[in-house]
Amino acid sequence: SKVYLNGEWLKPEEAKISVFDRGFLFGDGIYEVIPFYSGKLFLLKEHLQRLRYSLNEVELQCDISDFESIILKAIELTELNAADGAIYIQVSRGMAPRTHYFPENYDATVLVYAYKTNLRGFQNQFKDVLVSNDLRWHRCDIKSVSLMANILANTEAKKSDFSENIMIRDGYFTEGSHSSLFFVKDESVYTHPNGKFILPGITRNLLIKLCKENNIVIVEKALPVSELDEVTEVFITGTTTQITAIKNLHFPDRIINFGNDIGKVTRRLQLLFCEEVK
Ligand code: PDD
Repeated sequence: SKVYLNGEWLKPEEAKISVFDRGFLFGDGIYEVIPFYSGKLFLLKEHLQRLRYSLNEVELQCDISDFESIILKAIELTELNAADGAIYIQVSRGMAPRTHYFPENYDATVLVYAYKTNLRGFQNQFKDVLVSNDLRWHRCDIKSVSLMANILANTEAKKSDFSENIMIRDGYFTEGSHSSLFFVKDESVYTHPNGKFILPGITRNLLIKLCKENNIVIVEKALPVSELDEVTEVFITGTTTQITAIKNLHFPDRIINFGNDIGKVTRRLQLLFCEEVK
């Protein structure tokens, strides 16, 4: 298998980045994760558009017009044309003497690779998640590689054998450490509105569209923790999560359960999602 680094296709062990790369020194970089089902990229345009948005928001100059062909080649060189997997893309603000301000001239460092991962079988999962405080910055809409708050929170979850944690900021649920978050209340689906406090999830966006097309009421409004007792179903979505139902929410002092079987709204959305990736 080969990884793409700054115009070259290299064996992973031969791909090297400078110790002065700003991605390494500052976490000064942007990333994307794009899924492919049976070798077919899913919502590629939407992911590239979000990449462009994030790069713009942090004024990271990088021409991404050839990224589509690089991505296709990554799948081919990894021999994943018939497999399920994902593309990882990272763009950092290149190599420069360490200053907190951006260097005037730099060549962005670009890394792209494809890897195989399991994207199916999510309908059989009914998971527990940890509830954590959202310690992230106020620009969660940017897909920044600076993920310290996410990884600290997710590691706490992992210590209890949970694969994901969901976060609370100022009394409202925001999202997961690497997934978007939905609640079902009174047969309606609730999710935090886009803005500075969540990532505009590509899967989240698809879910909203599926709700609208199928007469499921979708409300983009943050859910206060105080209204959790009115919630009947919880699920998370994402590139590597698809639509995963949540069985128990683990707070430091209590566990809130959402039944012994996956709820019917979640089930319906999972079926609709499967039609999309077929
Ligand atoms: N994470 N929220 C956060 C904080 C995320 O990191 C992600 C994705 C999502 C879901 O977005 P999407 O549907 O576009 O994948 C929501 C990726 C997969 C990751 O960090 O690996």
